[in-house]
Amino acid sequence: MNPAQDASAASARAGGAHAGVQWLRAGRTSDFEVGTLGASVVAGRRVCIGRLDSGFFAVDDTCPHAGGSLAGGIVQAGQLICPLHAWGFDIGTGACDDAPGCAVAVHEVRTVGDEIQVRLAPPPPGAARPDGAHAGETA
Ligand code: FES
Repeated sequence: MNPAQDASAASARAGGAHAGVQWLRAGRTSDFEVGTLGASVVAGRRVCIGRLDSGFFAVDDTCPHAGGSLAGGIVQAGQLICPLHAWGFDIGTGACDDAPGCAVAVHEVRTVGDEIQVRLAPPPPGAARPDGAHAGETA
């Protein structure tokens, strides 16, 4: 599969739900070997980018549990596992089976030459708040 096909597959997984939102540069394909994760700041937002055999994916980098950087985690059976307390997030939907109601945003990804581009999705209802608590917790 070539990079353009990779990008189409990732975009299709994300559902193409962000039509009209601008594509923003998030990194270079040459910085990611298959099986690696990395963090990037896109429009002031930390994004975790991963490269799998099937292509690239991008989700918010901040874990909604206690703010861990998901880019420091691993991907296992379609789940992005947080390095701090091992909560898993579905890389296709952002849902967390360990804490229903918590989720990370899944961003559309495409590649243009060596450039990785994302279209940022809005934070889901269970995303991390600035104080580190998730939306279901009181301060
Ligand atoms: S900070 Fe991610 S599981 Fe606790």
